[in-house]
Amino acid sequence: MTRARKSTAGLADLARLARDARQRAHAPFSRFKVGAALRTRAGEIVTGCNIENASYGLTLCAERVAVFKAVSEGLREFDAIAVVADSPRPTAPCGSCRQILWEFCGDIVVHLVDLAGRRRTLRMSELLPLPFDRRNL
Ligand code: THU
Repeated sequence: MTRARKSTAGLADLARLARDARQRAHAPFSRFKVGAALRTRAGEIVTGCNIENASYGLTLCAERVAVFKAVSEGLREFDAIAVVADSPRPTAPCGSCRQILWEFCGDIVVHLVDLAGRRRTLRMSELLPLPFDRRNL
């Protein structure tokens, strides 16, 4: 499992680890590789890549792989995620990932990065305004 601990893990580290994770994507059907690096408030970084399968619908996005890996390791407090893809426009988390990121990570900072290093930074509350969550139940 890729799990780094750096007290000073900044955006450059996060983007680099997401880019490395992207190389491990299993995307033989779309050929669209995505990497993610999720940082805990304590500075640990958990990565994820998209993993596709032959029935297509069971595909997991890089962001959800990172979140589920982290949660399964007992990590719960997050402050940022970097998402790296090779795309002419920033690749933002899909709707399913926005819901999972919101519920497990809250209003974290989201860095959308491409292979040229261009980036756009938003917060989850911008990506998912008026969310449905446990406060509704
Ligand atoms: N994908 C991600 O992993 N993250 C995103 O933010 C967008 C889409 C994946 C899912 C699928 O394997 C491929 O990209 C094409 O949709």
